[in-house]
Amino acid sequence: MQSGTRTVNIGIIGLGTVGGGVYRLITTHAERYRKNLGVDLRIARACSRSEERARELDIDRGRFTTDWRDVVSDPSVDIVVEVIGGEHPATEIFEQSFSAGKYVVTANKALLGRHMEELATAARAAGVQLRCEASCGGGIPIVDTLGRDLSGNEIITVAGIVNGTTNYILSRMAEEGLGYEEVLADAQRLGYAETDPTADVDGLDAASKIAILSSIGFATRITADDVHAQGIRAVCAQDIEVARELGYAIKMLAIAHRTESGIDVRVHPAMIPASHPLAGVSGAMNAVCVVGDAVGETMFYGAGAGAFPTASAVVGDVLALAEPLSAGTQALPEPEPFKRELAIRSIRDLSTRYYVRVVPDGANDARSCAEEVLERHGIAVGQALTLEDGSVALVTEAVREGDMADAIAEMTSAEGAPCEIANTIRIEDVAAWTEGVEAN
Ligand code: HSE
Repeated sequence: MQSGTRTVNIGIIGLGTVGGGVYRLITTHAERYRKNLGVDLRIARACSRSEERARELDIDRGRFTTDWRDVVSDPSVDIVVEVIGGEHPATEIFEQSFSAGKYVVTANKALLGRHMEELATAARAAGVQLRCEASCGGGIPIVDTLGRDLSGNEIITVAGIVNGTTNYILSRMAEEGLGYEEVLADAQRLGYAETDPTADVDGLDAASKIAILSSIGFATRITADDVHAQGIRAVCAQDIEVARELGYAIKMLAIAHRTESGIDVRVHPAMIPASHPLAGVSGAMNAVCVVGDAVGETMFYGAGAGAFPTASAVVGDVLALAEPLSAGTQALPEPEPFKRELAIRSIRDLSTRYYVRVVPDGANDARSCAEEVLERHGIAVGQALTLEDGSVALVTEAVREGDMADAIAEMTSAEGAPCEIANTIRIEDVAAWTEGVEAN
């Protein structure tokens, strides 16, 4: 250690999977940080509602507390690590930490997905930083990559698999031919999925993450409420099988794409070519493609959750702040966030191809009924497959989402519906993701 350096004190609030991982990573690697980086990190305070957890992690009583206020009011604490998640008391933890001049490192995607601009502005006003690498993609270094390393680009697309639970479910359905409910129950038993899986399977978690990534990438304010989110509950083994026959994989994608009329930002299951790198991302892994006008297509892959992968991202943020502090200076506040005001496009303006699975309804011929309705709405069918059970899979040409929604509404209207739609899934035009890249 160089002389003149000082110890940097950390306060961790939350000792669940991520907090426990952060505690263990810092304690086991402290000597390495001292030797390699010249940073002397010390966990000054650790907070959890569970005293049992303190015992499990071997945290002594002098440093442990069950009240987060003890952490943010401790004058020795330089950096507060908030890993409890949720809106409250996380919001109060941020506010009081900033007021006390403390830096904050967080993995809180739900809070940032809604309030990143206000929180980043509050950190800036207090002369400190808010860092959130762990909020998206677990251990994948993607937040700083977008905000710093790729900032010389005009970002065209950020698209990827940012929810491990749904990727795990869809992967197992595809690999083992199992049904959604069966895999979900297994995922819950194994601890991949929460007892209440709503945030994951309905796309809300991924919506928060793409809101954060796209706000940073496009330097404009996008919140989770701006994201069109649709979950995976309706995807069944038969859809996956048909997708395979058509040369596609079904993946739960989070997509933010810049168009001339604004940002198209959405989360939904989509068919992508089986040859696309995202199609090969299996199990609970995450991957994010970023397309910049100068760099072209890039892809970042890794564990999207878990104690140590997420702790890796948290501790990276802690060290980025600790290096200047330990040298007696300070990490400067970040520039004012989100200087642009880009429009958010309505999902009804999206143009995409669609897979439509139609089941026969009584005497009606499923295929001709569906084609007739689609045609009435100006939607051309490019491909049709009759399946073993008599249902029909249609692949449309590119169609405006609004027209498709109107056609589906007509086909499913309760009274006298001409045929029954079993499912519809968008077929993603991945080639559009790279339009606008500068020629080499
Ligand atoms: N529930 C999240 C997921 C955890 O499945 O990806 C990591 O954010």
